[in-house]
Amino acid sequence: MENRVRHRRRATIVACGAVRACAVAALFVAPATLTVAQSIERAALPSELSKLTDEEVARIARMSPLPAVPGDPSNRFVDDETAARLGHRLFFDRRISPAAVTCADCHIPDKWFTDGKPLGDAIGTSTRNTPTVIDSSRRRWVGWDGKFDSLWSQALAPIEHPDEMGGSRERLLRTVRDDATLRGMYERVFGPWPAELAAKDTDPIADGWKGAVDAGSNAADAITARQKTIDSTTANVLKALGAYQRRLVSGEAPIDRAVSALKAAKAVDPADLDASALRGLALFVSRAGCFQCHRGPSFTDEEFHNLGFAGANGKVPDDPARLAAVDFLKASPWNAAGGFSDAADAPKGQMVRSLRRSGELFGQFRTPPLRGVARTPPYMHDGRLASLAEVVRFYDTLEGASPVGHHGENVLVPLGLTDGERADLERFLSSLTGKEPNPEWTRDPVPPERRTADPDGR
Ligand code: HEC
Ligand code: HEC
Repeated sequence: MENRVRHRRRATIVACGAVRACAVAALFVAPATLTVAQSIERAALPSELSKLTDEEVARIARMSPLPAVPGDPSNRFVDDETAARLGHRLFFDRRISPAAVTCADCHIPDKWFTDGKPLGDAIGTSTRNTPTVIDSSRRRWVGWDGKFDSLWSQALAPIEHPDEMGGSRERLLRTVRDDATLRGMYERVFGPWPAELAAKDTDPIADGWKGAVDAGSNAADAITARQKTIDSTTANVLKALGAYQRRLVSGEAPIDRAVSALKAAKAVDPADLDASALRGLALFVSRAGCFQCHRGPSFTDEEFHNLGFAGANGKVPDDPARLAAVDFLKASPWNAAGGFSDAADAPKGQMVRSLRRSGELFGQFRTPPLRGVARTPPYMHDGRLASLAEVVRFYDTLEGASPVGHHGENVLVPLGLTDGERADLERFLSSLTGKEPNPEWTRDPVPPERRTADPDGR
């Protein structure tokens, strides 16, 4: 036991890698993940796992159970039921986008909240693949490049992005203000709607508002004050979207039942992991090296790596990824250390303050979690690999990766797997999908006939 505790600590520190936020990052690890994993007795191992070392077996023990969702002190409404219901309605609301695009058009509930396309696609085409939002409240950094440090602050980006929803915070606020149901929910959680943003002859949150100012007041001050109110009210609405997405958590997966059987020294049910999946599991924690980045119950170290993919059309990669994200996040007024955060001095705020830019971050992407991965093709930040078979083939051959150069990740080497071993790894990856989130939260809460019959009402 003593040994295992030390192993865990070391793993956490190594995972911090290039970012000098290690001490703070360790604080942020959800308390449940710090509890000692119940161990697996060697004697009970099935033959497929019997050649593994003690450390490799311990890696399997750490895959389950999935701990409780960590808190988010930067959003004090994160556990508020009404806030979550408001966010739920907005997630499916066409009125917040002038092109009638909703979050659910790209994060499609039936597709594990992804869209099945290589790149996000609505008004225009995005440069990145659409990740799932299921279990996204577990992420330390949000987005492929970790450009955000909370779920709530992320939500502004698609709303205002010209290629995604093409909206604005003013339009978002009008949607809430002018709908009795949404406004009622808002006021129950956040208090009275700000008088400065009430509808008047000249609507202070109309598109193209040019700064009509009450006689006698200082125009510049009035514009600044109005913008401040717009931003703080927007932050509230975003926190409702964050509270909603936190409800989207997956349930027990075959890997959880298998690990708990192993810990209880019982046989693994082949309906959960058959012999092929067990052989894949053994490869995953040993020779194939996947565990180095995809580890723990979410199968991610929550850190950033560069797998060395060439850019589009085989060109030199030009997406700065984590490097640009660190600059963006540190400067963002919406980060966990900023004025809209409900706990600027909490560990998350300290984490963003202690981020440092450095050249090696160029081209690094967040290790994606692998729970639910079988439901979310295509794969990688730009959706370049169509299937899990292609992903395994990539790691096996490293075809499509530039030779390990100054930006490449040294841990990746061609694996030289047999056809059978590739199939085993793929089979194992399919055992990581848990139960879908509670259907109460995955469906549009407003019946479709009411959405179409009365586009302005609810
Ligand atoms: C046009 C398609 C599209 C729409 C509409 C859209 N998203 Fe996304 N979403 C994406 C893409 C693409 C990414 C990845 C962006 C990146 O990392 O650079 C993403 C990333 C995310 C993430 C990060 C998940 C993670 O694992 O880090 C969350 C959370 C999210 N979106 C929530 C939302 C919400 C909330 C809305 C509505 C307000 C929304 N999205 C609207 C395509 C979309
Ligand atoms: C050096 C760290 C590292 C190692 C080792 C590693 N991965 Fe990954 N993995 C990543 C990163 C980073 C990405 C995203 C890369 C990108 O999009 O550019 C990724 C992407 C993936 C994806 C796609 C997920 C998605 O949602 O698109 C799968 C599946 C995957 N890895 C499985 C594996 C398997 C199986 C192994 C072992 C053979 C492995 N990985 C080894 C870091 C790693």
